[in-house]
Amino acid sequence: MNKENKLIYEGKAKKIFAHEDPEKVIIEFKDDATAFNAMKKSKYEGKGKLNCMISKNIFKHLMSYDIPTHYINSSSDISFIGQKLEIIPLEVVVRNIAFGSICKQTNIKPGTKFDNPLIDYYLKNDELNDPLLTIDRIKLINVVKTQELFDINKITLKINEILSEFFLNIQLKLVDFKVEFGRNSSGHIVLGDEFSPDNCRLWDLKANNGKIKSLDKDLFRNDLGDLIEAYNEINTRIQNFISST
Ligand code: TMP
Ligand code: ASP
Repeated sequence: MNKENKLIYEGKAKKIFAHEDPEKVIIEFKDDATAFNAMKKSKYEGKGKLNCMISKNIFKHLMSYDIPTHYINSSSDISFIGQKLEIIPLEVVVRNIAFGSICKQTNIKPGTKFDNPLIDYYLKNDELNDPLLTIDRIKLINVVKTQELFDINKITLKINEILSEFFLNIQLKLVDFKVEFGRNSSGHIVLGDEFSPDNCRLWDLKANNGKIKSLDKDLFRNDLGDLIEAYNEINTRIQNFISST
């Protein structure tokens, strides 16, 4: 990073810097943690580096299955170079097991396994507190074309399949996750943002007392335990698995 790399955007957990090549950006991970639309805030030394390592490995794994992602190459311990995208302001959430907001908004009991993964779309808008959308509302607000939404749906379900199996290999249950997409310079739909324990729920299948053991941001959201220890555990399991294959 040098001073020519102008800060383009600062989010809650990442900063985006300009790259010499206008079709690329540099994505840098911060140590900040926020929850409940930043009502709760903290900082964990080393979180940015862990989420960066985890995201790089997940993106590389997805690309090996031909999932289009914005990841190009690593640029430092806490950053990578990605394709510059026009971000589609939708948060796409996949749920395999009911937990979190769906259990507060419906009468579905926490821990209910879904026969088919459920996809929820939220509008990415902090001022409106990221409201849940319906398909008709998505059409009305005109943020995405019908074909693009079809592509997003298909890619998201494929990501769920690939990553559910990936995490099962390292004895983690992928309960749910949030992804974001954008359009690259050719107008293609590409997976953006990050994939880390900040935006998914991972339950430890090694826990043998029958209780849920979260190894994700729920530890911070609900004050359940040591976040860095959990993120380190996930990163180590991923690295051990990759080096064994
Ligand atoms: P939820 O249960 O709060 O709807 O969250 C579902 C999944 O989406 C969970 O893995 C956490 C992730 N998520 C984000 O990454 N960002 C968010 O702003 C929210 C609300 C959830
Ligand atoms: N990402 C949201 C926030 O930063 C909410 C969450 O992840 O719980 O506030």
